[in-house]
Amino acid sequence: MQNAQEQLDLRLRSKRAFEKIATPEQAAMLVKDGMVVGASGFTPSGYPKAVPLAIAERAKKGEKLKLSLYTGASIGPEVDGAWAEAGILVKRLPYHTNATIRDSINKGEVQYIDMHLSHSTQYLNYGFLPKVDIAIVEALAVTEDGNLIPTSGIGNTPAFVKNADQVIVEINLLKPMEMEGMADIYMTENPPSRKPIPVETPGDRIGTPYITCGWDKIAAIVITQMQDKTRPLAAVTETEKKISENIIQFLKEEVKAGRLSNSLLPLQSGVGSVANAVLYGLCESEFENLTCYTEVVQDSMLDLLRSGKATIASTTSLSPSPEALVKFEEEIEFFKKKIILRPQEISNNPEVARRLGVIAMNTAIEADIYGNVNSTHIMGTKMMNGIGGSGDFARNAALTIFSTASTAKNGEISSIVPMVSHVDHTEHDVMVLVTEQGYADLRGLCPRERAIKIIENCAHPDYREMLMDYYKRADASGPKHTPHLLEEALSWHSRFLKTGSMKFSKDN
Ligand code: COA
Repeated sequence: MQNAQEQLDLRLRSKRAFEKIATPEQAAMLVKDGMVVGASGFTPSGYPKAVPLAIAERAKKGEKLKLSLYTGASIGPEVDGAWAEAGILVKRLPYHTNATIRDSINKGEVQYIDMHLSHSTQYLNYGFLPKVDIAIVEALAVTEDGNLIPTSGIGNTPAFVKNADQVIVEINLLKPMEMEGMADIYMTENPPSRKPIPVETPGDRIGTPYITCGWDKIAAIVITQMQDKTRPLAAVTETEKKISENIIQFLKEEVKAGRLSNSLLPLQSGVGSVANAVLYGLCESEFENLTCYTEVVQDSMLDLLRSGKATIASTTSLSPSPEALVKFEEEIEFFKKKIILRPQEISNNPEVARRLGVIAMNTAIEADIYGNVNSTHIMGTKMMNGIGGSGDFARNAALTIFSTASTAKNGEISSIVPMVSHVDHTEHDVMVLVTEQGYADLRGLCPRERAIKIIENCAHPDYREMLMDYYKRADASGPKHTPHLLEEALSWHSRFLKTGSMKFSKDN
């Protein structure tokens, strides 16, 4: 166990770093009203904490402070929650999962730009967005040259550091130095100078273990000891278990048909209970030598690696539950050989996803009978979280799977609808739709065939007849390629709202 001075010597590898040490409050004063702030991290992992909280305090004390916040994806409550509560946020991109900010977005108080995560880096690099004035970055260490060794969530940090005029570094002593070497930082040039990204297998290392920064940019270094506010995993429900069984059944059929080998293809799975249930299901399956090319590694992926079922995981973020984090830190030397942390422009890159042929497994809020998917909007108008990385993978994967429970709100709402109230993933991207009822393999099917398969295989029995009745009447109403009764399709959701009772019936 090192003492505090030894810890600092290990992490601040130049005298110049010691000269820049500041308190969170001092560093917070570098952030001025109207600035664009870029924060490190991806999920509640690897994000700055002490300085954002000190910034929120300034606003709470009455100072006028309005900021735009760019991140990799969602980050912890010390930023999104605290800044939304303090009324600081003007503009936010590219993704969030925080309840307080969700409320502010849906009240129109925060301008939210919901973006493909891989686009967020290139929008910044192309100059499509106002530039980052100041980046706040959690790091393990600062090298002799003033470069940054990142912690557990890379996201857009390299792009923010490159784009920013000034960088505030939070050195988090709770993040183990043994993580050094997990990161692989590679950045693309803008066209026409862009080269092919040389990732040919999920385990390829192509960059540096540090983020290039330099002493000129580093404005302050704050020493912290604050744990990421990672979330405990919810228990898997019976519905989620059935969805995961259906996905695994589909994958087994693909192997049987000779379209996949027993090692499948690199897995990309969204976060949450279904994703975890699928990966836990794979732990017990006959598949072997699995690989993973994804954006978030959670508990189940760590278990797949630990059990030897999976050999390598490429990601931009490590986001285990608090219990799994303890075990991860005990076994860090093992995981260091198995996990690569990349910037999100590489982890989510369409070029790489297409080359590797990933199997993309993401979640829908609702899907329609033709295979269009809404992953972001409740009843077409209220933002839930955002599209995140789902679109990066969905368009470019070898196999694109979306899943949802067949009903929401205790069965009051069908998640299979005639026409989605908002489209994130079109019928052209969605290959397989899965609910707890079963799966619909939509590949090579025309709209009429898709409708029948989705209603029969995925809709809940309580709504199946109603949906089939809609489809048949639409089909009989005259020649069409995609049968719809537009007025009725558009009123499907508003009927839920109008009747007070959410239950939909043909009569209301
Ligand atoms: N109609 C109305 N409300 C619905 C609904 C529907 N068809 N389906 C779900 N909801 C509501 C739920 O009731 C719940 O409401 P609550 O917060 O009031 O309880 C809320 O939407 C979230 O639903 P839940 O089933 O808990 O969602 P989840 O945790 O499985 O997340 C997404 C589903 C789609 C919101 C989430 O996966 C997401 O944000 N995806 C986009 C980003 C992404 O895919 N990233 C991928 C790479 S990690």
